[in-house]
Amino acid sequence: MISIFRRPASSPPPRRLTLDILRYNPAEPERAPTLQAFTIDEAEGMTLFIALNEIRAHQDPSLQFDFVCRAGICGSCAMLVDGRPALACRTLTRDLNSHITLAPLPFFELIGDLSVNTGQWMRGTAERLQTWIHAVDRVSIDEIEAPMAPELAEAIYELDRCIECGCCIAACGTAQMRPDFVGAVGLNKIARFRLDPRDQRSDEDFYELIGDDSGVFGCMSLLGCHDVCPKQLSLQTQIAFLRRKMARLGFD
Ligand code: SF4
Ligand code: SF4
Ligand code: FES
Repeated sequence: MISIFRRPASSPPPRRLTLDILRYNPAEPERAPTLQAFTIDEAEGMTLFIALNEIRAHQDPSLQFDFVCRAGICGSCAMLVDGRPALACRTLTRDLNSHITLAPLPFFELIGDLSVNTGQWMRGTAERLQTWIHAVDRVSIDEIEAPMAPELAEAIYELDRCIECGCCIAACGTAQMRPDFVGAVGLNKIARFRLDPRDQRSDEDFYELIGDDSGVFGCMSLLGCHDVCPKQLSLQTQIAFLRRKMARLGFD
């Protein structure tokens, strides 16, 4: 089969990329994990998403990895790229060396090769942290919507940009040591609902959810989460703010 990714005739010859991909199928535990090398020609604007699809289409249809949107929106394609969590669909091969190592995100349930089950953990954490608006007042659909200051709506929207990709969890030392840690993604969600005036929970209520070592006090503040978040969320600021708020409650 012929690749659709072509270079203009005048371009320099493409780089030859070698992708070392960690292969393992948990359904076949008798077969040990191995690094399998694949080589492909780099194309203009090639992302790891494109490279992996080239490999799956032309070299090994059994290679497992996840993609949905290809645009940094669905959060499905996070993996370890040369040891660092990143979205494969937003990673250009030209920004990497010609020898690339890919592995699945740690912490999450491995489905196979580069595919992990982030959804199950994200859902469990959302249920545990009750990440929905808790309103005492009943809202009538006949009433005009209550206005919200644009600056506040913007601040809530900013925190809502999390795509639940799991990169922050994969980069988190605490999460690797204790599976019940809610991580930056969980703390960011609490910050988001705390900001929302429609959510009538108090700081005491939020303390019940994150006021221990599985929550904000388990964070070691090394900020791997902040460094790798593909949406550049202000995780450092949110975690520091929440910790100050929650620590004050703990002393009251
Ligand atoms: S906070 Fe950032 S790194 Fe963590 S899940 Fe959300 S988007 Fe991904
Ligand atoms: S700063 Fe806290 S939440 Fe972020 S990676 Fe470090 S321990 Fe994890
Ligand atoms: S495929 Fe959706 S974020 Fe990469």
